[in-house]
Amino acid sequence: MAEIIAVASHQSGVGKTALVQNLAYELSTQRVLVVDFDPQAQLTIDCGLDPTRIDRTIYHALHEPDRAEANIIALNGFDILPATETLALVEGDFLDQPDRHDRFKDVLAQLDALYDYILIDSSPSVRFFAFNAPNAATQLLMLLPSMESTAPDLQRVLAQTFHLLEIFRWGNPLLELRAVVQTMVDPRRPTQGVGQELIRQRFGATVIEEKIPADKAIAAAAIRGVPVARHAPKSAGALAYKTLAKDLYGTYRS
Ligand SMILES: Nc1ncnc2c1ncn2[C@@H]1O[C@H](COP(=O)(O)OP(=O)(O)OP(=O)(O)O)[C@@H](O)[C@H]1O
Ligand SMILES: [Mg+2]
Repeated sequence: MAEIIAVASHQSGVGKTALVQNLAYELSTQRVLVVDFDPQAQLTIDCGLDPTRIDRTIYHALHEPDRAEANIIALNGFDILPATETLALVEGDFLDQPDRHDRFKDVLAQLDALYDYILIDSSPSVRFFAFNAPNAATQLLMLLPSMESTAPDLQRVLAQTFHLLEIFRWGNPLLELRAVVQTMVDPRRPTQGVGQELIRQRFGATVIEEKIPADKAIAAAAIRGVPVARHAPKSAGALAYKTLAKDLYGTYRS
């Protein structure tokens, strides 16, 4: 059975999609699937695919879970269950179904014997997408943008992030918070933002804190449609994703 990893943040544009693509690459010494569960289809695009040329997607898998595997595309290293903007229609398709927040779970139940890790990139909107992903997952990585803020601001963002975790756990009480990941940390000021102590006060003594630096190579790699480790292997960004994979899952691509 695969470890199913969802990523979430209470803000958009904090590096969720970049984390899914790059962590998947580092874990791809084993069998890895990424799922683009966001109608923006940014993960699909950042993995070098053109959504206008794809006709089998996560949308089709949600409508026909028994045939989910037929929608998977093999990339260089890992597989993807891609999305196009058609995915936006799915929320309306299932609106009157009481089990609508478990539809994605039905899809992954068909796939989890085929992989060691399944990573889900979900939409920042808190509704169909945001609930289906944590309901189907075994683990959650919560992302916090790096902040230059006053203590009350930091406490507010931590409280909002914790509230999101509580909402997810209401739907899936077994969901494990694997780590809190601060993204886009200024490499010249690695101590900026929320410290380990504040994170532990809020999320518990054992939660792991990881950091991903702000690094232009990460954005440039996404534009080229490849993981940063293939675009700029010695960059700070590439090294950070390796460290994350090693710290959390004990493996990375050498
Ligand atoms: N650590 C980083 N350093 C510099 N740029 C980054 C970093 N992480 C992501 N980016 C870039 O920032 C932009 C937003 O990142 P990304 O798409 O991963 O965010 P997101 O949280 O998935 O956004 P959304 O909430 O809209 O889905 C992209 O252009 C991406 O390439
Ligand atoms: Mg995204």
